[in-house]
Amino acid sequence: MVVEFTPARPVVVELSAQDLRNRLYEALDVYVTAMGYPRGTEHHRAPMWSEHITRPGWRAVGALLTDTSGSIGPDSPLVAIAYGYRGAPQQWWHAQVHAGMRKAGWSDAEIRDLLTDYFEVTEVHVHPDAQGHRLGQTMLDKLLDGRTERRALLSTPEVADEDNRAWRLYRRLGFTDVVRDFTFAGDSRPFAVLSRDLPL
Ligand SMILES: CC(C)(COP(=O)(O)OP(=O)(O)OC[C@H]1O[C@@H](n2cnc3c(N)ncnc32)[C@H](O)[C@@H]1OP(=O)(O)O)[C@@H](O)C(=O)NCCC(=O)NCCS
Repeated sequence: MVVEFTPARPVVVELSAQDLRNRLYEALDVYVTAMGYPRGTEHHRAPMWSEHITRPGWRAVGALLTDTSGSIGPDSPLVAIAYGYRGAPQQWWHAQVHAGMRKAGWSDAEIRDLLTDYFEVTEVHVHPDAQGHRLGQTMLDKLLDGRTERRALLSTPEVADEDNRAWRLYRRLGFTDVVRDFTFAGDSRPFAVLSRDLPL
């Protein structure tokens, strides 16, 4: 008898709110592992991610590994996660970026223009074992496909010479600088805030 064996491969799919609730700790494990954060970080993040799911315009995508028959289902391992939602003035991130833009010399009119109609790409993470195979790019394509907002905004840690996969991915997709070397309240690390007009 010949047994057909299909190697597992990642498939990028949209995740419903219930899908992500069911897989919350699995997704947080991808996040903690990809970012190299200490174990336990997921417990602090779980309530925040759960609240984000309820925000207007929330959307998530993930990469699931196929089984030996090439199919995916509720038990397929999750190897990557990306999500975001529509930005709004009452949100913490929005207020922080607003203050950062003002400090960086943007005028009120420019700030209003940039922050009036955007999708915040809140999280993009690929498990280290699955990185380097365009999953990041495929997830962002799917996450931003058909969005009605005028642009997408995100923040990412500063790294020397923009020399990591996240920076190469965002630059390749055409994200440009809004604020550089910005420190969010409660985090001493410098971040960049980047923007890209939609559609991609
Ligand atoms: C950043 C991250 C999400 C990117 O996902 P990814 O699937 O590894 O990245 P991509 O597949 O889009 O691109 C990675 C590689 O594929 C290749 N590639 C992808 N698209 C390509 C293209 N159009 N042309 C040529 N090469 C391409 C490149 O070699 C690229 O490697 P490089 O960027 O190091 O040169 C992922 O690496 C990650 O989770 N990193 C750790 C956590 C993190 O930094 N998250 C973002 C915080 S803001």
